[in-house]
Amino acid sequence: MGIERITIFDTTLRDGEQSPGCSMNLDEKLQMARQLEALGVDVIEAGFPVASEDDFAAVQAIARECRKPVIAALCRAIPKDIDRAWEALKEAARPRIHTFLATSDIHLEYKLQKSRAEALGMIREGVSRAKGYCPEVEFSAEDATRSDWDYLVEVFTVAIEAGATVLNVPDTVGYTVPDEYGRLIGHLKEKVPGIDGVTISVHCHNDLGLAVANSLAAISAGARQVECTVNGIGERAGNAALEEVVMALSVRRDAMPFTTGVKQEAIYRTSQTLANITGNEVQPNKAIVGRNAFAHESGIHQHGMLSHRSTYEIMTPESVGVRQTHLVLGKHSGRHALAKRFEELGYPLERGELDKAYKLFTKLSDQKKEIFDEDLLAIVRDGLTHIPETFKLRALQATAGTSMFATALVTLLSDDGEATETAMGDGPVNAVFAAVDKLTGLKGKLLDFRIHAITGGADAVGEVFVQVAFDGVTQGGKGASTDIVEASVRAYLNATNKVLFARRAAAPAATEMR
Ligand code: KIV
Ligand code: ZN
Repeated sequence: MGIERITIFDTTLRDGEQSPGCSMNLDEKLQMARQLEALGVDVIEAGFPVASEDDFAAVQAIARECRKPVIAALCRAIPKDIDRAWEALKEAARPRIHTFLATSDIHLEYKLQKSRAEALGMIREGVSRAKGYCPEVEFSAEDATRSDWDYLVEVFTVAIEAGATVLNVPDTVGYTVPDEYGRLIGHLKEKVPGIDGVTISVHCHNDLGLAVANSLAAISAGARQVECTVNGIGERAGNAALEEVVMALSVRRDAMPFTTGVKQEAIYRTSQTLANITGNEVQPNKAIVGRNAFAHESGIHQHGMLSHRSTYEIMTPESVGVRQTHLVLGKHSGRHALAKRFEELGYPLERGELDKAYKLFTKLSDQKKEIFDEDLLAIVRDGLTHIPETFKLRALQATAGTSMFATALVTLLSDDGEATETAMGDGPVNAVFAAVDKLTGLKGKLLDFRIHAITGGADAVGEVFVQVAFDGVTQGGKGASTDIVEASVRAYLNATNKVLFARRAAAPAATEMR
């Protein structure tokens, strides 16, 4: 028997994006979708179009742009959701409607107030409606692992009769264990008529830390699609981590004879792209992509590694795209070297972008002796974003001390020219934000503030992420600098400029509607 291929269904942009602190705007979702396409996932679940206008727009944009993978859109098994999902998906090269309904008695009784028979009717109608639009239809029995097994057989039988091509068996609340989940897949394979003609999919949450183990057990029992997310983000404790599923299948092919279409060397970059977009750093000991995943600290381990890497290493860092951080460029490196390095890092820059990047690079090399790959990535992320800078930072001064109020003086440049304001605050960051608010005329409420050092050493570049609410609209922002107060104000201004940009973009639509 040959090695079978497992379909990797990525739901970072849907289930992952639903988790706290992981929301992304349209540009960020598109950036992530491009990276997922480069990673080689088979299916990108791009969103839940009926949930909001933003979700709809993201699914539509991804469907238009990402032509290689299947693009899936989620919808409940109700007509308005299905119609909306199709509307968003219809320009996709390879669309898939993913419709779902809860099937456990707990959900039927307390959430849907439907009988089992009524739910079967909704599944038949929902799947047939989706099939009328699109040849590829996935049906998910939400909370499958707490559903009655014989009822699940009925559910999936109806879904197949109505035209489903993929049957998903979600462990919605992360409750199952590997042996039980494998047996459930086996039971369905044995009892559901026609199941051999469709793909069995699994979707595991990580509430007991078993999402990846459960997914692998399901593969061994006959599942051929795994739903997962980059860095394992997702509702509550998250979803099965894509990088762990893929690498477990790759490293242990002897025990599990399956392959995937994922380009392993792009795993680390994909993980970093997501972390940078959302501002959620990967936990250091996270398998495959954590900072310590390939670090060997103890003397015995280091000795072993020096004698032969295989003593303590079951896969190389390079196999997932982790390279030793090394000095890449210095103050005197030219534009050509910079362009080449960006290209190697996966960011071929256009002329205008390179000009801007080079300016930022020379400015940074005045502040910092050594420029690392991470610094260059910070330049692309923070310096080359396409949000127009309605307000630009021109100058900043902040003072703070133990027994005094902090004060700040900020100068911003806008179409109206330069303006300067001063403000006081509990600390220098608070004071500069207050000065920025005075200059922009907006009142921001800081919801989240995170800072981390991108590179090591006393002259490290610090990166700040903020979440700010402006009149009830929450916007994320990020900024990087060797000075953390400057990084903070850049992050805050980034959020301010985003909200102003979004308001301008929404303005013509509002006028049209009148
Ligand atoms: O966890 C879950 O059950 C889901 C479904 C909608 C697939 O995310
Ligand atoms: Zn889920």
